[in-house]
Amino acid sequence: MPKLEDWLPLARKLDWDYSYVSEAEVFPAVPSGRPWLPHAEWQHWDEPYHTTCGEYCIGQSAKDESVYAVRDAFGKLEDYQALSQPWVNGLKLHSASLPLAEFAAVVGNMRGARFARDGAWRASCTLAALDEVRHTHIPLVLMHELVRWDPQFDWTHKFYHSNNWVAIAARHLTDEMLLASNPIDFAVATNFVFETGFTNLQFIGLSSLAREAGDTMFEKMTNSIQSDEARHSTIGHPVLAKLVEHDPEYAQYLLDKWFWRSWLLFAVVTGFSMDYLTPLAQRRFSFKEFVEEWILDQYLLTLEEFGMKRPWYWDQFLASLDSYHHMVYASAYTYRATVWFNMVVPSPEDRDWLRQHYPKHWDEFDAVWERVSECWRAADPGNDFAVHGTAIVGFCDMCQLVLANGTPRENRAQTLEHGGRKYIFCSEPCRWIFEREPERYAEHKDIVKRVLAGEAPGNLIAMVRQYFNLDYEHWGKDVFGGTYPWLNRKQGPDAWKNPGKQ
Ligand SMILES: [Fe+2]
Ligand SMILES: [Fe+2]
Ligand SMILES: [Zn+2]
Repeated sequence: MPKLEDWLPLARKLDWDYSYVSEAEVFPAVPSGRPWLPHAEWQHWDEPYHTTCGEYCIGQSAKDESVYAVRDAFGKLEDYQALSQPWVNGLKLHSASLPLAEFAAVVGNMRGARFARDGAWRASCTLAALDEVRHTHIPLVLMHELVRWDPQFDWTHKFYHSNNWVAIAARHLTDEMLLASNPIDFAVATNFVFETGFTNLQFIGLSSLAREAGDTMFEKMTNSIQSDEARHSTIGHPVLAKLVEHDPEYAQYLLDKWFWRSWLLFAVVTGFSMDYLTPLAQRRFSFKEFVEEWILDQYLLTLEEFGMKRPWYWDQFLASLDSYHHMVYASAYTYRATVWFNMVVPSPEDRDWLRQHYPKHWDEFDAVWERVSECWRAADPGNDFAVHGTAIVGFCDMCQLVLANGTPRENRAQTLEHGGRKYIFCSEPCRWIFEREPERYAEHKDIVKRVLAGEAPGNLIAMVRQYFNLDYEHWGKDVFGGTYPWLNRKQGPDAWKNPGKQ
């Protein structure tokens, strides 16, 4: 048996000279990415892991076994039923947004496995693609069991196949970042910004909350996934280094575009869970503190390492840390029948906690919850539509999320006229991205434009049922049906139906 050090360099870096085709024909510019450089420029491409296929299979199989061992011990239906209800609903949000995005990452990595410009880079992408298959499987397998208990878990698989507004926003990002990108853009957007910059927040920050919340299965699942992300995220660094050397302006654009886009999505997915759906007693840090700890310093340091500048909108990003996810949560709660998980009204204690952690604007958000609480007080328990919006809300023509940047007092939405059409954006960075690549984004229709074009019904219930594919069993409700002990609801005509629940 030859020694590892004798055969690995050859197996990892399998490149050769072409005799009857040119390099440009083997690696056409569009699927390979720009700047297009001859292989000599990429031949020193390297990453620190140097994993062999054999080591990979042994390691991954052990990781899978340990996930399934934890499932046998902690992943039974009773274990989920013992968790707090708001947390379980955060789980539905994560479970839906995760697995099919991971599957899209399989495609992105496979493109790298074919069109990346050095053998070692292609070898790493091949293993990364296998990783992402595993990340698709694990949540699908784990959540499948839960569908018989709570049909909303069916959205773990269904979400990306629907025209739900959150799914449209998530696809708008993942289609471009994972499915349609070339290996250079993929390495910067996915491996560098998304995986190095953001997934720690999700997979380490949220996983520590899962431990506090007693959700051992979620903790194990995310830790296991993160151990793969940590390896394949290293693909991004050597690609970015080469890009910076040849086209620093394009490198800066990709970094700034994907940081903003990733931020908005993580603020929704992780922000909701950390500040609203984790029970107060288990919340040791706020979402903002997690972002400060896991993203800010580390990301800025890495940018410096590459000689890159912080994004031009950095001050706006810092400002949005205090407000964005609160705005989207309040908006989503008010339209909870349009999502596939249930949501909770923050209690007076929650609101005190939020005020302490978000002193800058909390009073403005607090007024919203005061109003929601008043509406519940006047409504019968379980009558969700008495405390629910009916008019259609506006969406950003870039990120496709609700126009929720700013605060209740300061709307940061931006408009633009382009090609005889009017566009609206949640924020200046969203408009800036659109203006840099209008040919990519201008044709996309948000929900409101689909309604105006007669492609989607304008009536809320019809939209929820026919267009978002949600029926009563699946659409979001208040976790507690509006029966909060702190509400001190006046005895309504239906109060007898819920004795002792108020
Ligand atoms: Fe992944
Ligand atoms: Fe990944
Ligand atoms: Zn936007």
